[in-house]
Amino acid sequence: MELAQLTRDLDALRDEALAQAAAAPDSASVDAIETDVLGKKGRLTGVLRGIGALPVEDRPRVGAVANTVRAAIEAALAERRANLRGSELAARLERERIDVTTPGRPIRRGTLHPSIEAMGDIARIFGQFGFVVHESPEIEDDQTNFQMLNIPPDHPARDLWDTLYVDVPGRLLRTHTSPGQIRVMQAMEPPIRALLPGRCFRYEAVDASHGFEFFQVEGIMVDEGTTMADLKGLLDEFARAMFGAGRKTRFRPGYYPFTEPSVAFDVECLVCGGPGCPACGRSGWMTILGAGMIHPVVLRHGGLDPERYQGFAFGMGPERIKMLKHGITDLRLFMENDLRFLEQFA
Ligand code: PHE
Repeated sequence: MELAQLTRDLDALRDEALAQAAAAPDSASVDAIETDVLGKKGRLTGVLRGIGALPVEDRPRVGAVANTVRAAIEAALAERRANLRGSELAARLERERIDVTTPGRPIRRGTLHPSIEAMGDIARIFGQFGFVVHESPEIEDDQTNFQMLNIPPDHPARDLWDTLYVDVPGRLLRTHTSPGQIRVMQAMEPPIRALLPGRCFRYEAVDASHGFEFFQVEGIMVDEGTTMADLKGLLDEFARAMFGAGRKTRFRPGYYPFTEPSVAFDVECLVCGGPGCPACGRSGWMTILGAGMIHPVVLRHGGLDPERYQGFAFGMGPERIKMLKHGITDLRLFMENDLRFLEQFA
């Protein structure tokens, strides 16, 4: 191998590489050319292998030529890369073009369950009269759910509350929120104004107006000199706030072992407004809650002296309130998780 030949080979390699670089269609091909020509096992190294066959004095010259060739190829590759970068970016932007004026996908917002919504409405209305929300356990004892409420074990009134018991003797799922009356009286000093919303359970066959699981909201007020007039005034205000100003209301005698006297509280039928229709059983009235003056025995069980303190309590079903308000005829809708029903509420 002689010097002139090796120099020619180097020149030829440079010319070929420059032509390839100039024609490279994309940066991946530029990378490929770089590996092929300048890489460790590339063609430039291949040519330089011939150096060993040259006389020692010629070798530096070949080295110098090889360096210029390498620099020229590197410059050509860099230039091509720079050119391609611009056009590739433009192509990519074109490929990934997005229409920023397209309207976004709406985010689905959940809604409050109608029972919860109704309890919120009830709490807000009574909140304006100074009632505070108090929590009371869902798993109760027989004592508090029945006996302290003046319902002894063999009392016929127990038939009203068919009960679900738990494995622990003496424990049950509360059948109403009324045991909360006892707990509130034990926990607070009069004047007491408390609201007890919560889940209740009864061993019932499910139909359009009965569920084995439902909500109640209990209210209790105890103070010196609290009277039936206070109860009537408060419930009238509640009915107006809940169902609209000008609604007629009425109190009928009722019976609960833990209140004396006991009443049922009705509002004018929300469907027919009075004359009577199928929704109100042709009576013109709808019953919205049960209430009464707290029985002296119950006050005493709550640790209060009935000679000094009087009070009233009331209990209502938020589902029933919603049903009356919106003309819903089947209680089961509240537990079936059918979005078409549930989404209609706020
Ligand atoms: N606890 C009664 C029921 O479940 C309702 C009620 C509450 C009645 C408070 C009077 C006083 O039907």
